[in-house]
Amino acid sequence: MCGIVGYVGSEQSSKILYEGLRRLEYRGYDSAGVAVMNDGGLNIVRAVGNLAHLGKALETEDVSGNIGIGHTRWATHGKPSEANAHPHQDCTGNLAIVHNGIIENFAELREELSGRGHDFHSETDTEVIAHLIEEQMTNGCDSLPSAVREASKSLDGTYAIAAVCTDDPDHIVAARRDSPLVIGVGETGNFLASGIPAFLAHTREVINIENGDVVILSADSITILDENDNSITRESETVDWDVAAAEKGGYDDFMLKEIFEQPEAFRNTIRGRFKDDHVTLDELKLTDQQVADISKIYIVACGTSYHAGMVGKYAIEKWARIPVELDVASEFRYRDPVIDENTLVIAISQSGETADTLAGVVQAREQGAKVLAVVNVVGSLLTREADILILTHAGPEIGVAATKTFTCQLAAMYLVGLYLATARGTLSSGERRSIISELERMPEMIQETLEDHSMITEATEKYFELPDFLYLGRGVGFPVALESALKMKEISYIHAEGYAAGEMKHGPIALIEDGTPVITVANNSLVQDKVLSNVQESIARGASIVIVGTRGDKTTMGQADDFFPVPECDEILSPVLTTIPLQLFSYHVAKRRGCNVDQPRNLAKSVTVE
Ligand code: M6R
Repeated sequence: MCGIVGYVGSEQSSKILYEGLRRLEYRGYDSAGVAVMNDGGLNIVRAVGNLAHLGKALETEDVSGNIGIGHTRWATHGKPSEANAHPHQDCTGNLAIVHNGIIENFAELREELSGRGHDFHSETDTEVIAHLIEEQMTNGCDSLPSAVREASKSLDGTYAIAAVCTDDPDHIVAARRDSPLVIGVGETGNFLASGIPAFLAHTREVINIENGDVVILSADSITILDENDNSITRESETVDWDVAAAEKGGYDDFMLKEIFEQPEAFRNTIRGRFKDDHVTLDELKLTDQQVADISKIYIVACGTSYHAGMVGKYAIEKWARIPVELDVASEFRYRDPVIDENTLVIAISQSGETADTLAGVVQAREQGAKVLAVVNVVGSLLTREADILILTHAGPEIGVAATKTFTCQLAAMYLVGLYLATARGTLSSGERRSIISELERMPEMIQETLEDHSMITEATEKYFELPDFLYLGRGVGFPVALESALKMKEISYIHAEGYAAGEMKHGPIALIEDGTPVITVANNSLVQDKVLSNVQESIARGASIVIVGTRGDKTTMGQADDFFPVPECDEILSPVLTTIPLQLFSYHVAKRRGCNVDQPRNLAKSVTVE
């Protein structure tokens, strides 16, 4: 949460910082600011609200200069206000810093610093860092990097920090612990950001900053000091994301664009993975014996990624016959699960930054488990904590609501399930071939589903003003119901409940009254008849029925007020398709209600706090 950007080079920095923040705005959008250094002075501009407010403020201020830092905030300590917006300064006004993360001991530090005469101007945890650096600069540290290093020793919690100081006018100094920060190596200068999209328009050459590093950037040099203050070289890597992928490309919103990118994203995630009747996952460096010895799998994730994990559980148990437990990461990390060296933990995270998921992984490894991570963001923290990494190739997802990354996570989980089933001999070659050929056809089936959506916009008109939606599904339709309810509530602010259809009669049925929309996943499957019985129970109580079903299934269509068709496909793989009309439905309902679908209130794309 929160986005950091920094630039030092031959160009005007304020424009680059603003553009970078625009690409990071998904990380937080309640206030923003920049600090630009020029002629031995610091110019700071901050504004409350989304980035457009900062843009307006920058039009009227003189912020020329070739070195600067910027920040877009997701409030943790202190309400969204100009005073709480970053950058924050020390008492002298010579230093400005931006910070992402949480300083857990900030209250004690603030009290101590105040006692030593420091004046505070915000309610943030961040401001203590500025004053700590100031003390180091006045109490013997001979340079900004060493002051940042010394100050960081007092901090408990997580941080990515970037600092500029008029005493050191040619450098940006940065440090991190458990919050993301990457360097972009450019032609006209060097960049720093909490996410690669911030500088993608300028460079695709990226260097990851590790925990404990202090980084010193100038226009033409990059110095990295490791935790022992040794100057070290970290290799750069070239990312294959292109800048168009981080732009709206003609769509009204990133979310809609990302929904429509799903055929390509899914294709990219499975590309090169199939050979005859099996899956090649070279990353999964487990011996046959290690695979045979796996006694239990935990899938650990949050939000949408958790729903992908749920589908993964169904697939792995059905295909590979290994018991799988699914855990919300925030529960997993504190509930003392039974783990040993024959446990495989699969962590799923789009951002690779989710604090709870990361903590769960670290803990599982300490207890001897092997950790496989399914991640979308290259170089993110989780990619570095896992023993085995499977990247989804969804490209950057900017909309806060996860869409294309969800279907790519499903793709990755199917690959893992098939791999394990092959290694353990639980699926025949014929069964594997048939699943593989369906997976290969999936991008076209997604495309078909996307093209046929006029009925969704029509249905939107009927439902967009209603206060409550109930989503039902059974088997792999259940995670789709959960995911679709989550999507509806997060972007439209309509109360939506996802339920296992069979559970409806145990409570939620009491919610149904005349006209309550019951959105049901009822495509062809082993449990379809059971789901349709639950539909009948809902109809009997006056519900309006929306069904996602198999194209051409007239019986099911006959029971629906609104029917969203998907192509026929293998039951376990069907969530890839059944989820898509419901993503579009949430999108259209939210738009009809005038909501900002890309930046829903109170949310952020990366949840780096507990
Ligand atoms: O980056 P992660 O996949 O770990 O994020 C987990 C959740 O925060 C995320 O899926 C969230 O629920 C989505 N915004 C929902 O659309």
